[in-house]
Amino acid sequence: MNDSFEELISSYIDSKIGISKDFLSEALANSLKNNLLKLYKDEELKSAGIGHFGTFAKNKEIRSDVIYWLDKENNNPHEIEFFALIEDFITYLNKECFTGIKSYEFHYALYKPGTFYKRHLDQFQDTSNRQFSMITYLNVDWKEGDGGELKVYDGEKSQIVSPINRKTVFFKSNELEHEVLETNQLRLSITGWLRKDLIDVIVS
Ligand code: OGA
Ligand code: NI
Repeated sequence: MNDSFEELISSYIDSKIGISKDFLSEALANSLKNNLLKLYKDEELKSAGIGHFGTFAKNKEIRSDVIYWLDKENNNPHEIEFFALIEDFITYLNKECFTGIKSYEFHYALYKPGTFYKRHLDQFQDTSNRQFSMITYLNVDWKEGDGGELKVYDGEKSQIVSPINRKTVFFKSNELEHEVLETNQLRLSITGWLRKDLIDVIVS
């Protein structure tokens, strides 16, 4: 069993915001960061939408990051290793917490200096399939003043999470509003959702 799984789940149960400081190994974090930087250099990252299908709209006033979806069909060994880790986590979560997660989706995200994602909920208005949000950071030298913190709201309270390399944050998608504060440096992450419906990536 992976200690970071237990850390993520117990902090989630205690405070609704699960945090593990080292969900990714150094090596995997480094490889995924290099993938992301290469995709950026090759101009493969695209601005993301708000909502989906019919309600899809690009709104730079709400979010100004650029993204790229991870996919088993990319045949990238590091993405495949990341998915294997996520599947192990889901197996553990389903067993410990009876969550019934059946699939997942993840994208790389890159925030250039001056970009942000305003306060929002991760669940689209017309579906409730996204159960948990899971964000992992790839910012090796992040320091105070670089900005780009995640601010998570829970009623009157809020918590600031620094986007430090290898850290993973985990919370219920329909429960906690959150925002990405304006970043002053390039900010790298992988964001995704654990779902209760079946999409093409199925947990075996
Ligand atoms: C999102 C999001 C938070 C982060 O992509 O929906 O809220 O810290 N990301 O990157
Ligand atoms: Ni979000």
